[in-house]
Amino acid sequence: MSAVEVRGLVKTFDGHVRRRGSGDQVRALDGVDLAAAAGEYLVLLGPSGCGKTTLLRTIAGLEQPTGGEVLIGDQVVNGLPPRVRQVAMVFQSYALYPHKTVLDNIVFPLKAEKTPKAEREKKARWSAGLLGIEPLLGRKPRQLSGGERQRVALARALVRDPAVFLLDEPLSNLDAKMRASARDELRRFQERIGTTTIYVTHDQAEAMGLGDRIAVLERGRVRQVGTPVEVYDDPADTFVATFIGSPPMNLVRNGGALVGFRPEHLLPAEIVSGERVTMPLRVDRMEYLSGDRHVYGTVTGIGAETRVIARLPATVTVPLEPGETHGFSVAEDRLRFFDAEAGTRTDPVRIGP
Ligand SMILES: Nc1ncnc2c1ncn2[C@@H]1O[C@H](COP(=O)(O)OP(=O)(O)O)[C@@H](O)[C@H]1O
Ligand SMILES: [Mg+2]
Repeated sequence: MSAVEVRGLVKTFDGHVRRRGSGDQVRALDGVDLAAAAGEYLVLLGPSGCGKTTLLRTIAGLEQPTGGEVLIGDQVVNGLPPRVRQVAMVFQSYALYPHKTVLDNIVFPLKAEKTPKAEREKKARWSAGLLGIEPLLGRKPRQLSGGERQRVALARALVRDPAVFLLDEPLSNLDAKMRASARDELRRFQERIGTTTIYVTHDQAEAMGLGDRIAVLERGRVRQVGTPVEVYDDPADTFVATFIGSPPMNLVRNGGALVGFRPEHLLPAEIVSGERVTMPLRVDRMEYLSGDRHVYGTVTGIGAETRVIARLPATVTVPLEPGETHGFSVAEDRLRFFDAEAGTRTDPVRIGP
Protein backbone atom coordinates (compact mmCIF):
# COMPACT_ATOMS: atom_id res chain seq x y z
CA MET A 1 0.00 0.00 0.00
CA SER A 2 1.10 3.54 -0.71
CA ALA A 3 0.28 7.03 0.41
CA VAL A 4 -1.30 9.26 -2.24
CA GLU A 5 -0.96 13.01 -2.42
CA VAL A 6 -1.98 15.75 -4.81
CA ARG A 7 -0.50 19.23 -4.65
CA GLY A 8 -2.04 22.30 -6.25
CA LEU A 9 -3.88 20.14 -8.74
CA VAL A 10 -5.61 22.03 -11.55
CA LYS A 11 -7.51 20.50 -14.45
CA THR A 12 -9.27 22.51 -17.10
CA PHE A 13 -11.26 21.12 -20.01
CA ASP A 14 -12.20 22.88 -23.23
CA GLY A 15 -15.84 23.69 -22.77
CA HIS A 16 -16.59 23.92 -26.48
CA VAL A 17 -16.82 20.13 -26.84
CA ARG A 18 -19.90 20.19 -24.68
CA ARG A 19 -21.11 23.73 -25.15
CA ARG A 20 -20.57 24.04 -28.85
CA GLY A 21 -18.92 27.21 -30.08
CA SER A 22 -18.60 28.88 -26.70
CA GLY A 23 -14.89 28.10 -26.36
CA ASP A 24 -14.89 28.63 -22.60
CA GLN A 25 -12.94 26.51 -20.19
CA VAL A 26 -14.33 24.25 -17.51
CA ARG A 27 -12.15 24.34 -14.41
CA ALA A 28 -12.90 20.86 -13.05
CA LEU A 29 -10.12 21.00 -10.43
CA ASP A 30 -9.22 24.39 -9.05
CA GLY A 31 -6.10 23.89 -6.93
CA VAL A 32 -6.63 20.71 -4.93
CA ASP A 33 -4.28 19.79 -2.06
CA LEU A 34 -5.09 16.45 -0.50
CA ALA A 35 -3.27 13.50 1.02
CA ALA A 36 -4.32 9.95 1.89
CA ALA A 37 -2.00 8.12 4.28
CA ALA A 38 -0.86 4.58 3.47
CA GLY A 39 -3.73 2.21 4.33
CA GLU A 40 -6.22 5.01 4.84
CA TYR A 41 -9.83 4.95 3.63
CA LEU A 42 -10.37 8.47 2.35
CA VAL A 43 -13.79 9.43 1.03
CA LEU A 44 -14.25 12.25 -1.49
CA LEU A 45 -17.70 13.69 -1.03
CA GLY A 46 -19.37 16.36 -3.10
CA PRO A 47 -22.29 17.14 -5.39
CA SER A 48 -22.46 15.99 -8.99
CA GLY A 49 -20.06 17.96 -11.20
CA CYS A 50 -17.71 19.07 -8.40
CA GLY A 51 -14.71 17.25 -9.91
CA LYS A 52 -14.62 13.90 -8.06
CA THR A 53 -14.23 11.68 -11.12
CA THR A 54 -11.71 14.06 -12.66
CA LEU A 55 -9.61 13.91 -9.50
CA LEU A 56 -9.63 10.08 -9.47
CA ARG A 57 -8.83 9.88 -13.19
CA THR A 58 -5.96 12.31 -12.74
CA ILE A 59 -4.54 10.21 -9.88
CA ALA A 60 -4.93 7.08 -12.02
CA GLY A 61 -3.14 8.74 -14.95
CA LEU A 62 -6.14 8.65 -17.27
CA GLU A 63 -6.09 12.47 -17.37
CA GLN A 64 -3.06 14.74 -17.41
CA PRO A 65 -3.28 17.66 -14.95
CA THR A 66 -3.15 21.20 -16.29
CA GLY A 67 -1.08 22.11 -13.22
CA GLY A 68 0.18 20.63 -9.96
CA GLU A 69 1.55 17.25 -8.94
CA VAL A 70 0.34 13.74 -8.19
CA LEU A 71 2.46 11.65 -5.80
CA ILE A 72 2.06 7.93 -5.16
CA GLY A 73 4.24 6.54 -2.39
CA ASP A 74 6.34 9.75 -2.30
CA GLN A 75 7.10 9.57 -6.02
CA VAL A 76 5.86 12.20 -8.44
CA VAL A 77 3.99 10.24 -11.11
CA ASN A 78 3.01 13.08 -13.46
CA GLY A 79 3.55 11.86 -17.00
CA LEU A 80 3.77 8.18 -16.02
CA PRO A 81 1.22 5.96 -17.79
CA PRO A 82 -1.62 4.40 -15.75
CA ARG A 83 -0.29 0.82 -15.84
CA VAL A 84 2.93 1.64 -13.96
CA ARG A 85 1.18 3.60 -11.19
CA GLN A 86 0.04 0.47 -9.31
CA VAL A 87 -3.39 1.97 -9.02
CA ALA A 88 -6.64 0.13 -9.66
CA MET A 89 -9.76 2.10 -10.47
CA VAL A 90 -13.29 0.75 -10.22
CA PHE A 91 -15.60 2.78 -12.43
CA GLN A 92 -19.15 3.85 -11.70
CA SER A 93 -20.38 1.70 -14.60
CA TYR A 94 -18.15 -1.28 -13.57
CA ALA A 95 -17.08 -1.46 -17.26
CA LEU A 96 -17.27 -5.26 -17.44
CA TYR A 97 -16.93 -6.97 -20.83
CA PRO A 98 -20.44 -8.33 -21.49
CA HIS A 99 -19.35 -11.23 -23.72
CA LYS A 100 -16.61 -12.50 -21.42
CA THR A 101 -17.20 -14.76 -18.44
CA VAL A 102 -16.56 -13.50 -14.93
CA LEU A 103 -13.24 -15.38 -14.90
CA ASP A 104 -12.15 -13.84 -18.20
CA ASN A 105 -13.18 -10.40 -17.00
CA ILE A 106 -11.09 -10.81 -13.85
CA VAL A 107 -7.95 -12.10 -15.59
CA PHE A 108 -8.13 -9.52 -18.36
CA PRO A 109 -5.72 -6.98 -16.78
CA LEU A 110 -3.21 -9.81 -16.19
CA LYS A 111 -3.50 -10.98 -19.78
CA ALA A 112 -2.74 -7.45 -20.91
CA GLU A 113 0.40 -7.61 -18.76
CA LYS A 114 1.33 -10.99 -20.25
CA THR A 115 1.21 -12.86 -16.94
CA PRO A 116 1.55 -16.65 -17.52
CA LYS A 117 -1.78 -18.49 -17.72
CA ALA A 118 -1.39 -20.64 -14.60
CA GLU A 119 -0.53 -17.66 -12.44
CA ARG A 120 -3.38 -15.64 -13.92
CA GLU A 121 -5.93 -18.26 -12.92
CA LYS A 122 -4.42 -18.66 -9.48
CA LYS A 123 -4.67 -14.92 -8.81
CA ALA A 124 -8.18 -14.76 -10.23
CA ARG A 125 -9.32 -17.56 -7.89
CA TRP A 126 -7.64 -15.87 -4.95
CA SER A 127 -9.38 -12.52 -5.58
CA ALA A 128 -12.70 -14.22 -6.39
CA GLY A 129 -12.36 -16.10 -3.09
CA LEU A 130 -11.76 -12.89 -1.16
CA LEU A 131 -14.94 -11.43 -2.61
CA GLY A 132 -16.99 -14.62 -2.31
CA ILE A 133 -17.75 -14.92 -6.04
CA GLU A 134 -16.01 -18.22 -6.88
CA PRO A 135 -19.32 -19.90 -7.81
CA LEU A 136 -19.93 -17.17 -10.40
CA LEU A 137 -16.69 -17.51 -12.38
CA GLY A 138 -18.38 -19.21 -15.36
CA ARG A 139 -21.23 -16.73 -15.72
CA LYS A 140 -21.58 -13.70 -18.00
CA PRO A 141 -22.18 -10.22 -16.50
CA ARG A 142 -25.84 -10.16 -17.58
CA GLN A 143 -26.44 -13.24 -15.39
CA LEU A 144 -25.36 -11.33 -12.28
CA SER A 145 -27.12 -8.99 -9.86
CA GLY A 146 -25.85 -5.42 -9.43
CA GLY A 147 -24.07 -6.34 -6.22
CA GLU A 148 -22.38 -9.33 -7.85
CA ARG A 149 -21.20 -7.20 -10.76
CA GLN A 150 -19.73 -4.75 -8.31
CA ARG A 151 -17.79 -7.58 -6.67
CA VAL A 152 -16.52 -8.77 -10.06
CA ALA A 153 -15.28 -5.26 -10.82
CA LEU A 154 -13.51 -5.20 -7.44
CA ALA A 155 -12.00 -8.64 -8.01
CA ARG A 156 -10.69 -7.47 -11.37
CA ALA A 157 -9.13 -4.44 -9.70
CA LEU A 158 -7.64 -6.64 -6.99
CA VAL A 159 -5.80 -9.20 -9.17
CA ARG A 160 -3.12 -6.70 -10.04
CA ASP A 161 -2.36 -6.34 -6.34
CA PRO A 162 -2.60 -2.56 -6.49
CA ALA A 163 -0.96 -0.20 -4.04
CA VAL A 164 -4.01 2.08 -4.25
CA PHE A 165 -7.71 1.51 -4.91
CA LEU A 166 -9.72 4.27 -6.55
CA LEU A 167 -13.46 3.63 -6.35
CA ASP A 168 -15.82 5.92 -8.26
CA GLU A 169 -19.36 5.72 -6.82
CA PRO A 170 -19.26 1.91 -6.95
CA LEU A 171 -22.59 1.50 -5.19
CA SER A 172 -24.67 4.01 -7.11
CA ASN A 173 -26.30 1.33 -9.29
CA LEU A 174 -27.62 -0.63 -6.31
CA ASP A 175 -30.95 -0.18 -4.57
CA ALA A 176 -30.97 1.38 -1.10
CA LYS A 177 -31.04 -1.89 0.85
CA MET A 178 -28.28 -3.51 -1.22
CA ARG A 179 -26.23 -0.34 -0.84
CA ALA A 180 -26.19 -0.58 2.93
CA SER A 181 -24.94 -4.19 2.94
CA ALA A 182 -22.49 -3.62 0.07
CA ARG A 183 -21.09 -0.62 1.97
CA ASP A 184 -20.51 -2.77 5.00
CA GLU A 185 -18.91 -5.48 2.85
CA LEU A 186 -16.59 -3.02 1.11
CA ARG A 187 -15.39 -1.64 4.39
CA ARG A 188 -14.65 -5.08 5.85
CA PHE A 189 -12.93 -6.08 2.63
CA GLN A 190 -10.66 -3.03 2.79
CA GLU A 191 -9.85 -3.73 6.44
CA ARG A 192 -8.74 -7.24 5.46
CA ILE A 193 -6.47 -6.19 2.60
CA GLY A 194 -5.39 -2.85 4.12
CA THR A 195 -4.91 -1.14 0.76
CA THR A 196 -5.05 2.66 0.59
CA THR A 197 -8.48 3.49 -0.80
CA ILE A 198 -9.94 6.68 -2.20
CA TYR A 199 -13.68 6.32 -2.46
CA VAL A 200 -15.87 8.79 -4.31
CA THR A 201 -19.52 9.41 -3.51
CA HIS A 202 -22.14 12.17 -3.63
CA ASP A 203 -24.04 10.45 -0.78
CA GLN A 204 -23.21 11.98 2.58
CA ALA A 205 -24.60 9.04 4.57
CA GLU A 206 -22.31 6.68 2.64
CA ALA A 207 -19.34 8.98 3.28
CA MET A 208 -20.09 9.18 7.00
CA GLY A 209 -20.34 5.40 7.23
CA LEU A 210 -17.25 4.49 5.23
CA GLY A 211 -14.52 7.05 5.65
CA ASP A 212 -11.61 7.23 8.07
CA ARG A 213 -11.65 10.80 6.85
CA ILE A 214 -13.87 12.71 4.46
CA ALA A 215 -12.73 15.38 2.01
CA VAL A 216 -15.65 17.59 1.04
CA LEU A 217 -15.37 19.01 -2.49
CA GLU A 218 -17.26 21.80 -4.14
CA ARG A 219 -16.63 23.27 -7.59
CA GLY A 220 -13.16 21.79 -7.91
CA ARG A 221 -12.02 22.83 -4.44
CA VAL A 222 -11.59 21.04 -1.13
CA ARG A 223 -13.82 22.72 1.45
CA GLN A 224 -12.80 20.63 4.44
CA VAL A 225 -10.99 17.42 5.33
CA GLY A 226 -11.75 15.68 8.60
CA THR A 227 -13.08 12.61 10.34
CA PRO A 228 -16.83 12.05 10.02
CA VAL A 229 -17.28 13.50 13.52
CA GLU A 230 -15.23 16.58 12.71
CA VAL A 231 -17.02 17.52 9.49
CA TYR A 232 -20.39 16.87 11.13
CA ASP A 233 -19.81 18.66 14.44
CA ASP A 234 -17.46 21.32 13.25
CA PRO A 235 -18.15 22.21 9.62
CA ALA A 236 -15.68 24.75 8.19
CA ASP A 237 -18.36 26.61 6.22
CA THR A 238 -22.05 26.71 5.39
CA PHE A 239 -21.55 24.46 2.36
CA VAL A 240 -20.21 21.62 4.50
CA ALA A 241 -22.76 22.39 7.24
CA THR A 242 -25.69 21.91 4.87
CA PHE A 243 -24.27 19.21 2.58
CA ILE A 244 -23.57 16.89 5.52
CA GLY A 245 -26.42 15.80 7.75
CA SER A 246 -29.97 14.86 6.87
CA PRO A 247 -31.85 17.02 7.61
CA PRO A 248 -29.02 19.57 7.20
CA MET A 249 -27.75 22.03 9.79
CA ASN A 250 -30.19 24.88 10.51
CA LEU A 251 -28.87 28.36 9.67
CA VAL A 252 -30.56 31.36 11.25
CA ARG A 253 -29.51 34.91 10.45
CA ASN A 254 -28.64 37.10 13.40
CA GLY A 255 -27.31 40.52 12.32
CA GLY A 256 -24.26 40.00 10.05
CA ALA A 257 -23.77 36.42 11.21
CA LEU A 258 -25.42 33.10 10.58
CA VAL A 259 -25.99 30.91 13.60
CA GLY A 260 -25.92 27.19 12.84
CA PHE A 261 -27.22 24.27 14.89
CA ARG A 262 -28.08 20.67 14.10
CA PRO A 263 -31.76 19.54 14.14
CA GLU A 264 -31.12 17.16 17.06
CA HIS A 265 -29.85 20.05 19.19
CA LEU A 266 -32.99 22.15 18.76
CA LEU A 267 -35.27 20.95 21.56
CA PRO A 268 -38.32 22.16 23.49
CA ALA A 269 -37.03 24.77 25.96
CA GLU A 270 -38.32 22.93 29.03
CA ILE A 271 -35.92 20.03 28.54
CA VAL A 272 -32.74 22.03 27.84
CA SER A 273 -30.71 23.07 30.86
CA GLY A 274 -27.50 25.08 31.34
CA GLU A 275 -26.25 27.90 29.07
CA ARG A 276 -28.61 28.08 26.09
CA VAL A 277 -30.35 30.32 23.62
CA THR A 278 -34.11 30.17 23.27
CA MET A 279 -36.28 31.15 20.29
CA PRO A 280 -40.01 31.13 19.59
CA LEU A 281 -40.82 28.46 17.03
CA ARG A 282 -44.09 28.13 15.18
CA VAL A 283 -44.78 24.47 14.45
CA ASP A 284 -45.72 24.09 10.76
CA ARG A 285 -45.90 20.30 10.44
CA MET A 286 -44.49 17.10 11.88
CA GLU A 287 -43.10 13.90 10.43
CA TYR A 288 -42.29 10.63 12.13
CA LEU A 289 -39.09 8.96 10.93
CA SER A 290 -37.57 5.85 12.55
CA GLY A 291 -39.04 6.77 15.90
CA ASP A 292 -37.93 10.42 15.80
CA ARG A 293 -40.30 13.37 15.55
CA HIS A 294 -39.15 15.82 12.88
CA VAL A 295 -40.67 19.19 13.62
CA TYR A 296 -40.75 21.59 10.65
CA GLY A 297 -41.11 25.05 12.08
CA THR A 298 -40.53 28.75 11.59
CA VAL A 299 -38.43 30.88 13.93
CA THR A 300 -40.48 34.02 14.33
CA GLY A 301 -38.79 36.17 16.94
CA ILE A 302 -35.54 37.36 15.36
CA GLY A 303 -35.69 39.56 12.24
CA ALA A 304 -36.75 37.66 9.10
CA GLU A 305 -38.67 34.44 9.61
CA THR A 306 -36.52 31.36 9.06
CA ARG A 307 -37.55 27.77 8.41
CA VAL A 308 -35.86 25.28 10.72
CA ILE A 309 -36.13 21.60 11.53
CA ALA A 310 -35.95 20.04 14.98
CA ARG A 311 -35.40 16.33 15.47
CA LEU A 312 -36.84 15.04 18.71
CA PRO A 313 -36.12 11.50 19.89
CA ALA A 314 -39.11 9.37 20.88
CA THR A 315 -38.17 9.90 24.55
CA VAL A 316 -39.16 13.58 24.25
CA THR A 317 -42.92 13.52 24.74
CA VAL A 318 -43.56 17.29 25.04
CA PRO A 319 -46.92 17.82 23.27
CA LEU A 320 -46.69 19.98 20.14
CA GLU A 321 -49.45 20.95 17.73
CA PRO A 322 -49.17 22.41 14.22
CA GLY A 323 -49.99 26.14 14.31
CA GLU A 324 -48.86 26.51 17.90
CA THR A 325 -45.77 28.55 18.86
CA HIS A 326 -43.45 26.93 21.38
CA GLY A 327 -40.12 27.99 22.93
CA PHE A 328 -37.21 25.93 21.57
CA SER A 329 -33.63 26.05 22.88
CA VAL A 330 -30.13 25.14 21.77
CA ALA A 331 -27.32 24.60 24.27
CA GLU A 332 -24.69 27.28 23.70
CA ASP A 333 -21.87 24.82 23.07
CA ARG A 334 -23.90 23.44 20.14
CA LEU A 335 -23.98 26.77 18.29
CA ARG A 336 -21.69 27.38 15.30
CA PHE A 337 -21.19 30.84 13.77
CA PHE A 338 -20.66 31.69 10.11
CA ASP A 339 -19.98 34.86 8.15
CA ALA A 340 -23.26 35.63 6.38
CA GLU A 341 -21.47 36.71 3.17
CA ALA A 342 -18.48 34.36 2.84
CA GLY A 343 -20.11 31.40 4.62
CA THR A 344 -16.90 30.65 6.53
CA ARG A 345 -16.75 29.99 10.28
CA THR A 346 -16.20 33.00 12.51
CA ASP A 347 -15.87 31.09 15.78
CA PRO A 348 -12.86 28.78 16.18
CA VAL A 349 -13.23 25.30 14.70
CA ARG A 350 -12.99 23.17 17.81
CA ILE A 351 -11.77 19.73 16.88
CA GLY A 352 -8.90 18.44 14.81
CA PRO A 353 -6.03 20.25 13.10
N1 LIG B 1 -13.85 15.36 -20.79
C1 LIG B 1 -14.45 16.46 -20.35
N2 LIG B 1 -14.62 17.53 -21.17
C2 LIG B 1 -15.21 18.66 -20.74
N3 LIG B 1 -15.67 18.85 -19.49
C3 LIG B 1 -15.55 17.84 -18.62
C4 LIG B 1 -14.93 16.58 -19.00
N4 LIG B 1 -14.93 15.77 -17.92
C5 LIG B 1 -15.53 16.46 -16.91
N5 LIG B 1 -15.89 17.69 -17.32
C6 LIG B 1 -16.52 18.74 -16.50
O1 LIG B 1 -15.75 18.90 -15.32
C7 LIG B 1 -16.58 19.09 -14.19
C8 LIG B 1 -16.31 17.99 -13.16
O2 LIG B 1 -16.76 16.76 -13.68
P1 LIG B 1 -16.60 15.39 -12.88
O3 LIG B 1 -15.20 15.26 -12.43
O4 LIG B 1 -17.15 14.31 -13.75
O5 LIG B 1 -17.54 15.64 -11.61
P2 LIG B 1 -18.19 14.59 -10.57
O6 LIG B 1 -17.52 13.27 -10.76
O7 LIG B 1 -17.93 15.21 -9.24
O8 LIG B 1 -19.65 14.55 -10.88
C9 LIG B 1 -18.00 19.11 -14.71
O9 LIG B 1 -18.36 20.45 -14.93
C10 LIG B 1 -17.91 18.35 -16.01
O10 LIG B 1 -18.90 18.74 -16.91
MG1 LIG C 1 -18.36 11.37 -11.22
